[in-house]
Amino acid sequence: MAKIIDGNRIAQQIHQEIEEQVRALRTQGVQPCLAVILVGEDPASLVYVGRKQKACEQFGIASRTLRYGADFSEHELLQLIGELNSDSSVHGILVQLPLPHSLSSSRVIQAIAPEKDVDGFHPVNRGKLAAGEECYAPCTPAGIQEMLIREKIDIAGKHVVIVGRSGIVGMPLAVMLAQKKPGANATVTLCHTGTRDLSYHTRQAEILIVASGRAGTITGEMVQEGCVVIDVGVNRIVDSTHPKGYRLVGDVDFAAVEKKAAAISPVPGGVGPMTIAMLMKNTLQAARKQSAGVS
Ligand code: GUN
Repeated sequence: MAKIIDGNRIAQQIHQEIEEQVRALRTQGVQPCLAVILVGEDPASLVYVGRKQKACEQFGIASRTLRYGADFSEHELLQLIGELNSDSSVHGILVQLPLPHSLSSSRVIQAIAPEKDVDGFHPVNRGKLAAGEECYAPCTPAGIQEMLIREKIDIAGKHVVIVGRSGIVGMPLAVMLAQKKPGANATVTLCHTGTRDLSYHTRQAEILIVASGRAGTITGEMVQEGCVVIDVGVNRIVDSTHPKGYRLVGDVDFAAVEKKAAAISPVPGGVGPMTIAMLMKNTLQAARKQSAGVS
């Protein structure tokens, strides 16, 4: 049976470290602050934004949650971002995705000042990440890397197979883990919808990271004995026995894969809490840099 990688426990460790650093910064008169913008009523986004707000409270970070209806115009949103860019009491700006179809997420993200882009989605931060330069790394890939490091799972020299090439998870993670840096230096295979014979590749994985966005993507037959599996997926499955009428599952068939893997992260309680911890870490870093006048 696999070891369960407890994201809540690791995030709690990070919480304690960051909370202490936030306290130290506050004694110097700097209150880190994150602005979170939500446009529309997407139910999953409402949950995620609520979690970010709660995490800010727990970490001692001030938050401003700015909520608008789906009819909020791009012009108004760009204006709001401009105001937050020049507000020195706000250190991080996050626009929750997906945005309503009437808004261009790429134009909106590009309007955020790169030094306040704690999500790491701005092209300047993406470019720096690819170049191996210091930048705000996107929170989910950073959380996965941190999780592996803190679990003492060696990444260097390993064959890491990533399933899913999204701009938020798979693609930046492939870039990060392939770099010649501590906690990286892996041989990376990036699988996607154009991959022929997915299971051929997943069976080669020493570390398998699944971010396909589809429940049941990885079955027991698709992994080798002793591999480490990180499940990034969050899928709602109808379940009338559950009080909410649904339950959350990842992209991996947990029950089958757990029997073969050396270690596996669960859903919920795996990558999710790590993502939020990395957002808090980026916000602290932004506050530190901006208050010191370096960006
Ligand atoms: N939607 C899903 N994941 C994310 C994330 O990490 N950041 C933002 N801003 N929106 C998301």
